[in-house]
Amino acid sequence: MVVKNVCCIGAGYVGGPTCSVIAWKCPDIKVHVVDKSEMRIKQWNSDKLPIYEPGLDDVVKECRGKNLFFSCDIEKGIKEADLIFISVNTPTKTFGIGKGRAADLKFVEACARKIAEVAEGHKIVVEKSTVPVRAAESISHILSANTRPDVSFQVLSNPEFLAEGTAVTNLLYPDRVLIGGEESAGGDEAVAELMWIYTHWVPKEKIVTTSTWSSELSKLASNAFLAQRVSSINAISAVCEATGADVSQVAAAVGLDSRIGPNFLQASVGFGGSCFQKDLLNLVYIAECLNLPEVAMYWQQVTDMNEYQRTRFAKRIVECLFNTVTDKTLAVFGFAFKKNTGDTRESPAIYVCSHLLEEGARLNIYDPKVEPKQIEHDLTSSSVTDDPERVQTLFSTYSDPYEAAKDAHAIVVLTDWDEFKNFDYKKMLDSMKRPAFIFDGRKMLDHSALIKLGFHTETVGKRF
Ligand code: NAD
Ligand code: UGA
Repeated sequence: MVVKNVCCIGAGYVGGPTCSVIAWKCPDIKVHVVDKSEMRIKQWNSDKLPIYEPGLDDVVKECRGKNLFFSCDIEKGIKEADLIFISVNTPTKTFGIGKGRAADLKFVEACARKIAEVAEGHKIVVEKSTVPVRAAESISHILSANTRPDVSFQVLSNPEFLAEGTAVTNLLYPDRVLIGGEESAGGDEAVAELMWIYTHWVPKEKIVTTSTWSSELSKLASNAFLAQRVSSINAISAVCEATGADVSQVAAAVGLDSRIGPNFLQASVGFGGSCFQKDLLNLVYIAECLNLPEVAMYWQQVTDMNEYQRTRFAKRIVECLFNTVTDKTLAVFGFAFKKNTGDTRESPAIYVCSHLLEEGARLNIYDPKVEPKQIEHDLTSSSVTDDPERVQTLFSTYSDPYEAAKDAHAIVVLTDWDEFKNFDYKKMLDSMKRPAFIFDGRKMLDHSALIKLGFHTETVGKRF
C-alpha cells in the first residue's frame, strides 16, 4: 500500500499545523482534517485561523482546497483514508478514579470506536495524541473487537514534539520523528508507510523507530525532562534571591557544561501550557499505579516546584507593594503561557493574576494575541475563583499597553513577548503612580535602564 489519503481527527494545536505541513510537503497526498467542533472547522476554512502560529497562515493558504481540507465529516474522512491520525485532546481527568492526575482518554476512545464503526478495508491508525503507556493496546483492542471480515488495522504511536509558537519550524526541522509499532510484519509495514510520509522532508536519520510502548513513554519522559529543567532552574532562582547570586549567571555557567547544555534554563514565573503539567501528572499516576511511589514522588515535585514559583512571585509583588495591593492598579503585560501564541492553557498568568485579584488588586491586562473573552473565561472559571462576579469587576483588558499602564502602581510582566522589550518605559513611567514598580516575571527587560529611569525593579532570581 502507498498512502494516498490521510485523515486527522482533531483540528487543534497539533492536528492543524501537523497536517498542514504534511499537505504542504506531500502534494501527492490528500489530507483531510476533521473535527467535531463546527466552530473550529469554520475558522480553519476562514482567513482567521483558530490558532496563531508564526508561518502557519502561509502554509494553509498554499494548500487549502488543493490537497488540504477541513471539515466536520468525520465518517467520510475515516472512510477515504489509508492512514488516520488521532490528534484529539487528552486532558487530565476531573472526576472519578485518577481525578486530577490520570489522562482522560474518552476522546481517544471515541475516535477508536468511530473508526471501528465506519472503516472499510485496511487502515493504519496513528496515535498522535499524548497518551499513557500502553494506550495503543486499548485502541487495538477496541478496533479488533469491532472488526468486520473485510476490515483490518495496524496501530502506531507517533507522538508530537512541536512546541507552540514555533510549531511550523519544529515540524519542518524536527530534532527527531518517533514512530512506535508492533514488532510484526504488519507492524513493520505500517511503520514503513508512515516513515515514507515523513521522508518527503525529514532526513531518514532523524526518523527513529521503537516499540509502541517505548514510543508512548518517550513522549511523557521528554516533557517530564523539559519541565524538570525549568523547575530545577526555578528552584535555584529562589536560592539566588535569598543569597544575592544571579540566576542568569548561574544558568549560563551551568549550561556551558556540554553534558548539561544551555537550553531550557530560563528561570521564570513558572512553566505553563496545556501539556507539561498534564503529562507530569499522568506520569505520576502511572508510577503510582505501578506501585512505584518513589518515582511518583520524584516527578510530583517538579509540578509542586512550579506551583511554588508562581505563588512565590505573586506574594513578592504584594510584599514589595507595601504588603497590600487592595485597590491598587497593576498593569499586566502578557497573558499567554509563552510568546508567539494566543494559547492560555495553564498559563502562569492565570495563577498570578488570580492571586492578585484575590488580594483585591485591579488589573489592566494587555496581551498582543489573547482574546479578551479568553482572559475573562480564564479568570472567572470555577477552578480559580469561587466569586466570579467580584473578580469580573476587578480586571479590564486593553489593546494598548500605554493605556494599561496609565495610573498604575506597577507593571507585571508575565509572558516573554519580544515587543515588551521595545516599549517606551519612560512614557509609561510618566503616567504611573510613584513609586513605580516593574515585576519582570520573565527576566527579559533591561533592568539597569529601568532603574536609571526611576523604576523600582524586581525580577526572578536576582536582587537589586
Ligand atoms: P486541542 O484541544 O487544541 O485540539 C483537540 C481537538 O480535538 C479539538 O478541536 C476537539 O474538538 C477535537 N476532538 C476531540 N474529540 C473529538 C472526536 N471524538 N472527534 C472529532 N474531534 C474531536 O488539543 P491539542 O493541543 O492539539 O493536543 C492534542 C494532543 O496532542 C494532546 O494529547 C496533547 O497532549 C498532544 N500534544 C499537544 C501539543 C501542543 O503544543 N498543544 C504538542 C504535542 C503534543
Ligand atoms: C512543550 C515541549 O517543548 C514540546 O516539545 C511538546 O511537544 C509540548 O510541550 C507538548 O507536548 O505539548 P510548549 O508547552 O508548547 O511545548 O512550550 P515550551 O517552549 O516547552 O514552554 C513551556 C513552558 O515553559 C512555557 O510557559 C515557557 O515559558 C516555560 N519555559 C520554557 C520556561 O519558563 N523556561 C525555559 O527555559 C523554557
